[in-house]
Amino acid sequence: MSLNKKNRYFRKKTERMQVKNICCIGAGYVGGPTMTVIAEKCPDIKVTVVDLNQKRIDQWNDGDVNNIPIYEPGLSEIVKNTRNKNLFFSTDVNKAIEEADIIFISVNTPTKTYGSGKGMAADLKYIELCARQIAEVAKTNKIIVEKSTLPVRTAEAIKSILDATGNGVKFQILSNPEFLAEGTAVQDLLNPDRVLIGGETTEEGIKAQQALVDVYANWIDRDKILTTNVWSSELSKLTANAFLAQRVSSINAISELCEKTGADVTEVSKAIGMDKRIGPKFLQSSVGFGGSCFQKDILNLVYIAKSYGLNEVADYWEQVIIMNDHQKNRFSRNIVRTLYNTVASKKIALLGWAFKKDTNDTRESAAIYIADNLINEQAQIAVYDPKVNEDQIQNDLNYLGTRADDENCQAVNTFKNAYDACKDAHAIAVLTEWDEFKSLDWKKVYNEMKKPAFIFDGRNILNSNELSEIGFTVYKIGVGKN
Ligand code: NAD
Ligand code: UGA
Repeated sequence: MSLNKKNRYFRKKTERMQVKNICCIGAGYVGGPTMTVIAEKCPDIKVTVVDLNQKRIDQWNDGDVNNIPIYEPGLSEIVKNTRNKNLFFSTDVNKAIEEADIIFISVNTPTKTYGSGKGMAADLKYIELCARQIAEVAKTNKIIVEKSTLPVRTAEAIKSILDATGNGVKFQILSNPEFLAEGTAVQDLLNPDRVLIGGETTEEGIKAQQALVDVYANWIDRDKILTTNVWSSELSKLTANAFLAQRVSSINAISELCEKTGADVTEVSKAIGMDKRIGPKFLQSSVGFGGSCFQKDILNLVYIAKSYGLNEVADYWEQVIIMNDHQKNRFSRNIVRTLYNTVASKKIALLGWAFKKDTNDTRESAAIYIADNLINEQAQIAVYDPKVNEDQIQNDLNYLGTRADDENCQAVNTFKNAYDACKDAHAIAVLTEWDEFKSLDWKKVYNEMKKPAFIFDGRNILNSNELSEIGFTVYKIGVGKN
């Protein structure tokens, strides 16, 4: 049934569900910001965000909203407006489940690191734990919303766990994937391109879908709220991420060709992006995409395709990841080659560690892999990132397991500003496109570096003519020598 038809159906039936209580399991990068915006836009709904991680919840409850665990422009202010009014953060998961009409599951779904599907399939153990806990605790009918990104047909598994309780409680499962991007999460949530809600096409399923539509309709135009069947919704999320990542890998593939041919990838991007059929977004060549989701979701898509025996489909999408790994590796290889084939004991400054600007998230950041490759070559790494601290940087490297933790500790130093990180360095690599890097006093940086002084701009954000005039040898991604 189309949304319009459904709306008509519900106008006739009038018995719309009044949502008073929302619970969200998972106070992470999605659960936290999403629920904050729902609370702000739906003052009559009590929103409780729960998590097992006491430290994370304490940070969300910190008296100083600048200390909330997630850095997103504009988020602290909204938390300040809503917290302890109709937005609550708690570790009492059971209580929040019991009270809620709608429960969002927004827990992490990382790539499996063990067993069958290791390195490809999504690990659904946290999702299953949530389903079991809901099944155990719930005493009244509930709408369960998959907010986490899940493999297509996960709703089936959740439903089977929930329906096995035999205590008469009825559950409706909806898929409502989140499309926000980090760094712009608040804007994306306030003004999304669309909201997608997948549900069963039964009377109860449609009623549940409508209840969630009504929540979003408090601030989002109903024309932008799409309703589909559950499987289309689940698969659309993986597909959207795969398409976005594919564009980045496509332009990165072209960047290597540009370097060989004397073309300039920024000019190529602009030229192709002006074609309305292609469009300008996600054509920024870079040191490689990072983030918790692109790689994970494509690997998941590849795994699903393989599990249906669709090997050509799987190979097609896997190439997006292969290209991304290649882009990261060739960037670090180029640094070593340019620095006379050795970086042993040379200080290399990395500007930026987050996977993109305006976030403190470092998951799968290209910087981690560039640093790891350079440490293998015995470089001394100096890092400055405006929002990432030393512990996080060490944890990220230790997690790779390439070498002992104390060796990472010796190989990497973290600095509180870019100037100190770059002092006495042989080379600088710009790995995150933080705005403040554009306006550094590059003459001062140059004066304090070893000569010849190299800059490898992994984000193409710096003015290479100005830097060359100062005396730097500049390498930009996808810019060939004429
Ligand atoms: P996250 O790791 O930041 O947060 C997940 C939280 O869930 C953690 O704090 C963890 O402690 C908590 N948790 C895990 N199991 C729990 C349980 N049983 N009970 C209570 N809490 C539990 O993850 P995230 O980045 O918010 O991503 C969550 C989901 O949303 C993933 O499926 C991801 O693919 C998807 N997603 C993420 C983004 C993004 O920008 N990060 C965007 C869209 C979709
Ligand atoms: C991405 C999607 O954009 C969101 O719609 C989605 O909800 C989210 O994944 C998710 O499912 O987690 P996110 O990873 O937060 O969002 O950030 P993006 O802006 O997509 O950037 C991802 C990576 O690609 C970053 O490392 C970024 O620097 C890189 N990128 C992006 C490029 O290298 N070039 C571009 O042109 C665009």
